[in-house]
Amino acid sequence: MVAYRAAPRRDVALAENARRLTFADVKPVALLFCLHFYGILSVGLAQPMPADVKQVMGRYACTTCHAFEVRLVGPSWRELAKRNYTPKQLAALMRKPQPENWPNYPPMEPVPTFTNADAKIIADWLKQLKN
Ligand code: HEC
Repeated sequence: MVAYRAAPRRDVALAENARRLTFADVKPVALLFCLHFYGILSVGLAQPMPADVKQVMGRYACTTCHAFEVRLVGPSWRELAKRNYTPKQLAALMRKPQPENWPNYPPMEPVPTFTNADAKIIADWLKQLKN
């Protein structure tokens, strides 16, 4: 009788195992899963971009060389955002790039027609990317 009681019932043990699998167990997997899709989006295909930003990017084809998370020809937008450029600094850099700011990258072509208004749109957008 004692021996029978000591032996755990298999179905009860299974039920306990099942209950022990909580969200905490699957969280890393869930996070990776989300990041995976976020990564696909942020490579640039379906990334939501405000219309004014899109317009500037479209005019100068910035996105042929810059993507969200990954290095293309130039640094990613996220890397660029970390530099905290003011609109004024950004305008100056677009008209006269300083390749020494980015060792290991080819120099960016100057964009002489880049206006201060364009620079404000891009600088403001980069600023909110960091949040
Ligand atoms: C032909 C490819 C190409 C295009 C198009 C391009 N870039 Fe770049 N960009 C680069 C490369 C390469 C670098 C890094 C080397 C450098 O700064 O010269 C860079 C650097 C930058 C920097 C950093 C400057 C610094 O000194 O820190 C900013 C900001 C930037 N690009 C924004 C833009 C914007 C905005 C556009 C569109 C108006 C654009 N780029 C278009 C290739 C490109």
